[in-house]
Amino acid sequence: MKKTLITILRNRNTPIEQYRQAADQLGTVLAVECDSLFPKATLFVDTPLARTHGVCFKHEFVLVPILRSGLALLPPFMRFHPGAGIGFIGTRRDEKTAIPELYYANLPPFTQDNPILLLDPMIATGGSAALAVKVLKDAGAVEKQITLISFIASPEGITRFQKDCPEVGLVVAQVDEGLDEQKRILPGLGDFGDRYFGTND
Ligand code: URA
Repeated sequence: MKKTLITILRNRNTPIEQYRQAADQLGTVLAVECDSLFPKATLFVDTPLARTHGVCFKHEFVLVPILRSGLALLPPFMRFHPGAGIGFIGTRRDEKTAIPELYYANLPPFTQDNPILLLDPMIATGGSAALAVKVLKDAGAVEKQITLISFIASPEGITRFQKDCPEVGLVVAQVDEGLDEQKRILPGLGDFGDRYFGTND
């Protein structure tokens, strides 16, 4: 399922409706897949007929999309975590140097128990994600409570991110071949945000 959805996202001729739908579906697959990473509590539940055992997540989640592409991952993750705290981190990268800078951060209150899911569909150099982790750590998070969720990553982005943030969890649907000279992922899918939001700058 992941490969068919990524193929739709890669295809330059995919219309925006189908592109958004595939992004939402791939986000849903990742939200289900990463479920096993997070601690559960057991509980009793009363059905109309009997009392039985059940499970729930032990701690409420915090969802933090990296603006703006990460916004595409918010609806699928909110569907499974409707009570999650939600924060936003805005980074932009200098087009020449590809070095990211922070332009916005707004985080909800959290404790060191809350799993924090950092949402960014594309990990190119890994710089924006590493900067976002620093913002979370400055706000009191510890690395092992953070998981980065992504559709496509470059091998060099993963290597750099894991070097900078060794204890952060990583859930990636596809590792691609590499980066071009403008630090775009190859073969990739182009600019995720432009294609999802229908902009072209
Ligand atoms: N972000 C994108 O949207 N695409 C890339 O190829 C790299 C970063």
